[in-house]
Amino acid sequence: MDGDNDVCVLQRRLAEAGQSHLLQFWEELSVAEQQELLMDLKDMDLKELSQAFQRAMMGSGHLPGQENVDARMEPVPREALGSATRDESQLPAWEEEGLRHISQSKVAVLLLAGGQGTRLGVSYPKGMYDVGLPSHKTLFQIQAERILKLQQVAEKQYGLECVIPWYIMTSGRTMESTKEFFLKHKYFGLKKENVVFFHQGMLPAMDFDGKILLEEKGKISMAPDGNGGLYQALRAHHIVEDMEQRGIGSIHVYCVDNILVKVADPRFIGFCIHKGADCGAKVVEKTNPTEPVGVVCQVGGVYQVVEYSEISLATAQKRSHDGRLLFNAGNIANHYFTMEFLKDIVNVYEPRLQHHVAQKKIPYIDVATGKYLKPDKPNGIKMEKFVFDIFQFAKKFVVYEVLREDEFSPLKNADSQNGKDNPTTARHALMSLHHCWVLNAGGHFVDENGTRLPAIPRGTNGKSDAVQADASHNLKDANDSPIQCEISPLISYGGEGLEKLVKDKEFHAPLLIDRSGVHELVKNGTTGSL
Ligand code: UD1
Repeated sequence: MDGDNDVCVLQRRLAEAGQSHLLQFWEELSVAEQQELLMDLKDMDLKELSQAFQRAMMGSGHLPGQENVDARMEPVPREALGSATRDESQLPAWEEEGLRHISQSKVAVLLLAGGQGTRLGVSYPKGMYDVGLPSHKTLFQIQAERILKLQQVAEKQYGLECVIPWYIMTSGRTMESTKEFFLKHKYFGLKKENVVFFHQGMLPAMDFDGKILLEEKGKISMAPDGNGGLYQALRAHHIVEDMEQRGIGSIHVYCVDNILVKVADPRFIGFCIHKGADCGAKVVEKTNPTEPVGVVCQVGGVYQVVEYSEISLATAQKRSHDGRLLFNAGNIANHYFTMEFLKDIVNVYEPRLQHHVAQKKIPYIDVATGKYLKPDKPNGIKMEKFVFDIFQFAKKFVVYEVLREDEFSPLKNADSQNGKDNPTTARHALMSLHHCWVLNAGGHFVDENGTRLPAIPRGTNGKSDAVQADASHNLKDANDSPIQCEISPLISYGGEGLEKLVKDKEFHAPLLIDRSGVHELVKNGTTGSL
C-alpha cells in the first residue's frame, strides 16, 4: 500500500537524520493528523536542515571556534554616507531624480510583513494594527495612502501617469488574513493588480542538539525563516519576473512596523541612483548603546549589519573622538536595491546566506512523557536569514542618514510591556511630526484661552530658514503627550502642500486634516470643520 510505503520511507529518512522521535506518537494520531504530519515531513530536506543547523550554530558563538565579529567591525566610511541634514543642499536634486524614476513607473516597494509580532502580542498581522490615531488608520492604510500620494506627486511634476507596485511578503499563516483585510478595505484606493502578495517559507524549531521540536504530538513547531527568507520567496513565487515585466529598475524594501516610513522615498531613491549604488541602507543615528537596532558597518572590509542581538556591549558602547557612538549607523530596515542586484541575489548569491540563530523559549511536547511543556529558559533555537545579509555582495553600497523624528518610530511592543517602541510612542511620533509640519507651513496652535502655544526650536544644522519646531525632541517617554495633530497622507506625503490649508491660521488641538477638510476635533467626539 502506498500510504504504508510512504511511512516506511519516512521512518528510514528520519532515522538517518536522527529525527525518529517525530513519529513517537504516530499510533495516537488520527488519520487526518497522520496525513498532515506526513505532508509536512515529506517536503522537508532533512539533510539540508542538519547542515544549516551546524553552520548556523558554528556562526553564532554557540559552538567553540567562532570568529569574533566585534573585533573586525569598522564604521561606515565617510565616502559611502549621505545625510538628509548635512547634505541638505543636495536634497532637491535627489528628490527630483527619485520622482523622475517614480513617474516612469520604474520604482517598486516591497514590504516585509512575515513576522509573527510576538512582542506586540496580537494574533493578527501587525499591519492591521490601529495605534489609536484620531483617524484610527492602520499601518497598512497609512502606507497605502503614502503610495497613492506619491504617485500623484510624481504625476503632477512630470505629467506622466505612473504606478508604484506594492509587493507584500506575508508568512504562510498571515497570508489569508492580510489578503482579506485588503479586500475588505478595497485596497485602500490602490488598484488590486498593483498589490502583489506572496508568502515566505517556514523552518522547524530545534533543540540545542538539532532535534526538531514538536508543538503537538502530530505537529512540528514551525516558524517563518526570517525576513531574509525574502529571496527564496521571490524566486519561488516568480516575483522578480513580475517586476521585470513591469519595467522596474529600483526597489525600496522596508518593514511593516515603522509608522513614519517614507514608502518609496524619492530622496533616498534619488540619492542611491545619483551615487550609482546597487544597494543602499537608510539609517538614523544610534545614540543609546543598548537600543535594539542593528548597526550598519563593515566587517572584514564588506558591508554588513551587525544585529543588536549579536554585538557585544563593549563594542556597542565604543565612542569616537566627538563623543558619538563609534557604531552609530542605526539600521531602520529601509533598503534600496537595483533590479540587477536583486536578480543576482535571487539567482546566484542567496544559497550562500547563512542562518542566524535565535535562542528561544519554545513550548514543546516532551517525547519521553508526551506532556506539553512551557520552558522558563531558552530550550532551543529558531533559524532565520536576515534581509540585509546580502549587503556583502553589493558592488557599490551607500548609506543614507535621516533624522529619527522624521522617519523612525517602530511598533514592536505592547503598551503594557515597556515605554519604548509601542503604540503610544508610535502615535506620538506621528502626531509630533505632523504638528511640526503645520508650524513649518505657517500655522499655529492655541490653547483654550486663545494663547499661542510655543514652538520648540528644532535641532537641525540650522540652514533651513523655515520655522522649525519639533515636539518629539521633548518626548522623553510615552507619557509625554504631544499636541494632537494628524494629517492624512492623501493630503501630504512629507509635509509639502500644507500652506494653503494652514498658513497664518490658528488651531485648537486635536486637529485632523484629511480630504474632507481641516477639522478641529472637539473633546465630545464631534468634529468642527474649519
Ligand atoms: C529589525 C532589523 C534591525 C533593525 C530593526 C529596526 C532585521 C533582521 N533586523 O529588527 O536591524 O534595527 O528592525 O526596527 O531586519 N519579518 C518577516 N519575516 C520574518 C521575520 C520578520 O517578514 O520571518 C519582518 C517583520 O514583519 C518586520 C521586519 O521583518 O516587518 C522586522 O522584523 P522584526 O522581528 O520586528 O525585526 P527587529 O528584530 O525589530
